[in-house]
Amino acid sequence: TGFVTFDPGYGNTCPSKSSITFLNGEAGALRYRGYTIAELCEKHTFEEASYLTLYGELPTAEQLAEFKSGVNAYSKMPKQLEKIFEAYPDTIHPMVMINVLTSSLSAYFPEVTSISDPAQVEKATQVAIGQMLTFVAFAYRKSIGASFEYPTEPCSSAAGLLKMMFGNDYVVDPDVEKVIDELLILHVDHEFNCSTSAVRLIGSSQANLFASVSGGISALWGPLHGGANQAVVEMLQFIHENNIDPQEYLEKVKRKEDGIRLMGFGHRVYKNYDPRARIIKKTCDRVMAKLGKEDPLLAIAQKLEAAALEDEYFTSRKLYPNVDFYSGIVYRAIKIPTEMFTPLFALGRLPGWIAHWREQNSDPKARIGRPRQIYTGETQR
Ligand code: CMC
Repeated sequence: TGFVTFDPGYGNTCPSKSSITFLNGEAGALRYRGYTIAELCEKHTFEEASYLTLYGELPTAEQLAEFKSGVNAYSKMPKQLEKIFEAYPDTIHPMVMINVLTSSLSAYFPEVTSISDPAQVEKATQVAIGQMLTFVAFAYRKSIGASFEYPTEPCSSAAGLLKMMFGNDYVVDPDVEKVIDELLILHVDHEFNCSTSAVRLIGSSQANLFASVSGGISALWGPLHGGANQAVVEMLQFIHENNIDPQEYLEKVKRKEDGIRLMGFGHRVYKNYDPRARIIKKTCDRVMAKLGKEDPLLAIAQKLEAAALEDEYFTSRKLYPNVDFYSGIVYRAIKIPTEMFTPLFALGRLPGWIAHWREQNSDPKARIGRPRQIYTGETQR
């Protein structure tokens, strides 16, 4: 049946063209629709970066207002979805809730599940974005056994998230709001990463947006992808609590003992540095200085990083800190619980997932994703 290219992990496979995100791993460059992530973090908001990623241009004030009001119209969770919360124990990981709820949107918004009607696709985009913020915040509320609250006045996604997580009495510090906004921007898109490829692959079967995105959430959860931010902090905690010398921990990593890896290090595409990590490290310094915090985990992370960057095992494999290495330290400093790190990654990545699903849907050349195998079993029995 023809020629098959063996490419484990799709390291060299390109299933389609895309005009959303420019990524140059050698140069450490990441741009959404041509704008650098540094410029977007400095001059724009998460909402603007989302609009840019989805529609290809930064919004005018009017377009932004229209976008926000479209999304806000769907920010309240359908009442019946509260029953889904009740069906799960409070102890479950919030990613389970977010995934199940996103999948359930196909049931509660069946009128926007067409993949070919542009008006429905537009509404589905607003539903997904509007609901996701609520899902993420309420998954946290559930985990602490608290009731659900919506913000009493209009606010940014970052401020809304904080208010919905911590309650309307929570006073949002503009610097903390800016940090969340920046982290969300840094996560908006990353071309054909594992979760985005999952969204595209599911979407290629003409599955609706919600079904496709919920698959992306599942793919994101794994510790080699979006789950790495939680895994990094757990690794640092483990080192701290067991009083392990960071250098000794690195030796274990190098011996590949129990298959452990230095979480937050390495990347398939970045072989010099991850530009997101560079921005986050600066944010980390800023936040720590402002809050006057001393996190013992930060000191461990710094020691691990310094030692790894000097070590032949890591340098010869071109393993550098990635986006997840310092993001957890920043989240900890602003009191975001560890289990919420990956949900925040999902919230940030959502516009990217949707942009990819839409791009693929409007590509007349798109075909169902269907890789081939090299069969190694019995041929006949
Ligand atoms: N610690 C120790 N060794 C590593 C690590 C690491 N973090 N990452 C890769 N290696 C080694 C790996 O063992 C292999 O060694 P060898 O050649 O001796 O077999 C070599 O480096 C190449 O690794 P690979 O698994 O072929 O690399 P990959 O491109 O398939 O994996 C990765 C990329 C990000 C999954 C991997 O670097 C990793 O597991 N990192 C830790 C998890 C992590 O931080 N993930 C977040 C990625 S950034 C967020 C996102 O966008 O998803």
